[in-house]
Parts: sequence; C-alpha cells; structure tokens
Amino acid sequence: MQTHSYDVVIVGAGGAGMRAALEASPRARTAVVSKLYPTRSHTGAAQGGMCAALANVEDDNWEWHTFDTVKGGDYLVDQDAAEIMAKEAIDAVLDLERMGLPFNRTPEGRIDQRRFGGHTRNHGEAPVRRACYAADRTGHMILQTLYQQCVKQDVEFFNEFYVLDVVLTGDPATDPGARAAGVVAYELATGELHVIRAKSVVFATGGAGKVYKTTSNAHTLTGDGMAVAYRRGIPLEDMEFFQFHPTGLAGLGILLSEAARGEGAILRNASGERFMERYAPTIKDLAPRDIVARSMANEVREGRGAGPNKDYVLLDLTHLEPAHIDAKLPDITEFARTYLGVEPYTEPVPVYPTAHYAMGGIPTNVRTEVLRNNTDVVPGLFAAGEVACVSVHGSNRLGTNSLLDINVFGKRAGIAAAEYAQTATLEEMPEDAAHDVGVAIASIRAGAGTENVAKIRRELQETMDANAQVFRTKESLTTVLADIEALRERYARVGVSDRGSVYNTELVEALELGFLLELAEVVVVGALAREESRGGHFREDFPNRDDEKFMLHTMAYRVPPTARVAGEAGEVVGAGEIVEAGASAGEGTPPRPTFEGTSVRLDYKPVTVTRYQPMERKY
Ligand code: FUM
Repeated sequence: MQTHSYDVVIVGAGGAGMRAALEASPRARTAVVSKLYPTRSHTGAAQGGMCAALANVEDDNWEWHTFDTVKGGDYLVDQDAAEIMAKEAIDAVLDLERMGLPFNRTPEGRIDQRRFGGHTRNHGEAPVRRACYAADRTGHMILQTLYQQCVKQDVEFFNEFYVLDVVLTGDPATDPGARAAGVVAYELATGELHVIRAKSVVFATGGAGKVYKTTSNAHTLTGDGMAVAYRRGIPLEDMEFFQFHPTGLAGLGILLSEAARGEGAILRNASGERFMERYAPTIKDLAPRDIVARSMANEVREGRGAGPNKDYVLLDLTHLEPAHIDAKLPDITEFARTYLGVEPYTEPVPVYPTAHYAMGGIPTNVRTEVLRNNTDVVPGLFAAGEVACVSVHGSNRLGTNSLLDINVFGKRAGIAAAEYAQTATLEEMPEDAAHDVGVAIASIRAGAGTENVAKIRRELQETMDANAQVFRTKESLTTVLADIEALRERYARVGVSDRGSVYNTELVEALELGFLLELAEVVVVGALAREESRGGHFREDFPNRDDEKFMLHTMAYRVPPTARVAGEAGEVVGAGEIVEAGASAGEGTPPRPTFEGTSVRLDYKPVTVTRYQPMERKY
C-alpha cells in the first residue's frame, strides 16, 4: 500500500472535477483521482449545449432562466441555488470561451445560442435561445478544453485509480466533529491500494444511470461517489427523481440530443401526428423532459406507438435542410445511421425515453460543502456536479443545465476546497484506513462465485426498467424493492474468475455492482414513500403533486446492519410495508414512513423558496 499527501484531492475527472481542479491547483496542492483517463469521462457524451442568459440572439435575462429552472424542477428546486447558477452562468460560458472552447458563432461572431426544452422567454411565453453550443459535441469540447487547461496548469492526475472509500475522522451520523481526511483508491493497472491523505476531498464522480438497462449513460456510471459517501453515513437527497431523456435511440438508449428538437425536429406517433401539441400546447416538443418522456410513453401505452411492436415514437428531421443538419447535428444523425440504419435526411428516427440523469445525490449547500443532515456540514468534504444535490434541478432538470451546473459548482467547489485547506491541518490517517476496502476486495476474490456479476446487474437493470421507470405504482415499486433485496442477498455470493491484479475489470465490475444495488434501493425506497407525482417521479396511484405533504426534499440515510432492529422507531417490518416511523432527524419535521427489511431510513428537508411560490405547471 502506498500513501500520498495533498491539500485537496478531487475524485472524478469529468467537467465538475476538472473545473474544480483549475481553481484549486493554483491555491493549494491538488490531485485529481479518476477511475478513467480524464478525456473518457462522461461529460464528453453531453451533446446539445450549456445554457446562459447571454441574450446574444434574442432578449433574455438570468431571472427568466432562474424561473424556468424552478418551474422545470416542479418547485422542488432550492431557489437560492438556482439563482446563483443562472447568474453565474454568464461568466461560466465566458470563462470557457477564454480557455479556447470552439463555440458555434452567429454571423456577427458572437457565441450562438439555440432553443432547448423548458427554457422560455418571459416566464413561459415561448421558447428562448439560451443554449450555447459546439454543434452536438458541447460536452466533448468542454471536457477537452478543461483537460488542456489542467495540463497547462500542471494539475496532478492519478488516472485509472478507482476511489472506493472516503476516510473521515468520525461517524458523521453521530459525530459533529467528523471531518474529511482523505480517500482510499484501487490502482487498476497494478491492483495496489493507495491511501491519499488530504485536507479537503471533493467528490465529482458523476451519476448512476447504470441502475437502469435502457440508459444514455456510459458503462462506468455506477454511482461510485454517492455510494461511497452513503456507506460512510452521509445521507443522499432526492434519489427517487431520475430523469428519462425523451430521445434515446429506440431499443438502445443511446442519446439523441434534444438539440434536434431545438433545431426544429418534431416528435410524431405512428399516424404522423405531432402529439406534443396535445400535451404542451404552448411549447410543444420543447416542453421539459419529464413531460415529453411521459407523453411519449403514454402514446405507446395507448397504442399509438410506431414500428412492428408499436413500442417507440418517431423523431422527424426530414423537413430540415441536410446542410443545416450536417452543420448543427452531425454526431447524432451519424448515430442514427450507424446504430439503427436510418437516414435522418429522409426517414424519421425511432426514439424512446432513456435513463439519463440523477437529480438527487450527495446533499450540499451552495458552497458545495457536503451536509451530514439537514443543516450541518462535514468539514473538508465537498461535492459538485451530478454526484451532488445542491439542489438546482429539483425533481426534473432542464436540458443544458447540467453542463452549466458542473461549471458553476465545479468552480465553487475548487475555490471552497482550497480555501478550507489553507486553514485546516492534515488529519492523521488511521493505520487501518484501507482495511474495509481490502476486506471487500479480498472477499470478492475469495468468493465462491456461485453468482455472476453480469447476471445480477442485468436482472437489476431489467427490474428497474420494468418497475421504476417513467410510470410507477406502489405495486411496481414493491416488486422492484423485493427484487433488489433478493439480488443483494445473491450479491453476497458473487465471485470472479480473474484472480489477477493487472486491469482486473471483472473485480471492478463486481465492486461497481455493490454500489448500484445499494443506490437502486435508495431510489426505490424514496419513490415508494413519495406518494405524489412531481417532475421525473410519476406515481399512477398518486397522479397529482401534493405540496402540502411533499414539498420537501427526501433525505435517505443508510442504516448500518448492526442498527437494524425490527420494530424500532424509524424501522419497519417487511420490505415495502409502510409504517409511521417514530423518529425524525429534522426538528419540526413530521414523522415519515420508512421500510423494514431495507437498510434505508428516510427523513425530509424543507425546500428553499425565495421568489417563486409553487404554481400549477403548464406549458
Ligand atoms: O439532449 C442533450 O443534448 C442533453 C443535454 C443535457 O442533458 O443537458
């Protein structure tokens, strides 16, 4: 085992991690640790744009952007955070421009802007052009630009080091003094463990889309940072809210950017009807994603789907000029040709919703400091980007607010982590800091292997697709929860055939599966308890939003095995059975249901409302 010491360690080398590194590294000795080579990070798959009210092509301002974000998130957005994001968006884009990002330009040479779902002029009047973009490769360009700047700034990278644990000086559940001391990482090339001591730890590890089968997310998006924090006593916020991007390539889930609709493409059902006119008469195909995804799924359920099995709808670009398609949407049209054999110039493209984005994550305040409960921070621990929940996206993120989030809050995380490190001392690392990781790896290596990682993962993803997707009910969620419990039990018996140390990807996938199972349970337990429909969470048995009972953030706490005593306050009997828990972490928070047989305890936290009182959400 090797030990290293830094002031700031950043876990994850996507947009949020590298943006943080650019701020932290001139101020403090900084390392970025990533399980991937940085330019393979999933930010590179983001396509359509990064929004900011630059008003380069039409009237716009940050207040409209804030409003759209709050309304798009179905009023579960913390409005102070959304206002910060919308205001700082403008500098965030200009920072990237100065770094050399090749944005598309207007004929006058300004950064061009395109339309995107839910972004409107004057509080919903009509779609507005707010997304700055580089064709349909905006995330790729951001990732390359940030990496080049990191190289220029001599940022130190630990590439292909998989962080499996965070070291804290105490248990944040019970110890208000618990602070960050570093991380434990597994080196993929050698199998060696590394303890990386640091005064500040920043999590920027991205999302967890691989809990679903049909997803736009890369194979590596296994919720590592969320699960690592959760296992160490940090709550997870609003995990039941998962975004299904409307236009995944049908049957595959590969992302086909909303930019297509921003450039004029139209969704049609089997009979060629522009069905979004019925669901969102004002902004139609450019309604927010939750509404479009549900409308598409509804068309299919009601028998208006296209194709031999009537199980998808069609994205029609055939009225757009081929030259326009080539200039603005080159990658995604090539995906349609390559993966579906469809020529978008002349044929509509089969599409269906695909799991895309976790609105929930590690709770933070607007300084990106991680919260250990509804109010108190864990000193030295920070999070930014999709792994975090600040919460700027509420129950449904608007397209292009993600690339914005990673830049605004990545920058904030880098500054805050470095400032904290300037005043903090390096904590002593316990001698056995890597013990738990060592045991987890050894037990998988030594496992009987009667269960197979890929098989359990596939079964998890299939039941999540079938039961916790766009439409949910108590019955479907209870089914998937029971499935998850059974899969977790089987996971204890997984093994690997590769016992080697060099690039043992089978072992890595086994570790990732443990994270996925844990997070899937949190998603489902939160979804069962939230007996309302809001944003990306639609309960057919509770089809209305219920602000009186549920205008609250969910805070999910892991109950350690030793504390799982049936019938105790905050505990329940029988997976999925709801009872009122006697205990509640938040003062004044009403008692809430939790689920026995699971390891999750739920609490709730008020939403921060500043300018906008909740209204009915119409588009
Ligand atoms: O459709 C897209 O290009 C995706 C953008 C986003 O998720 O923000």
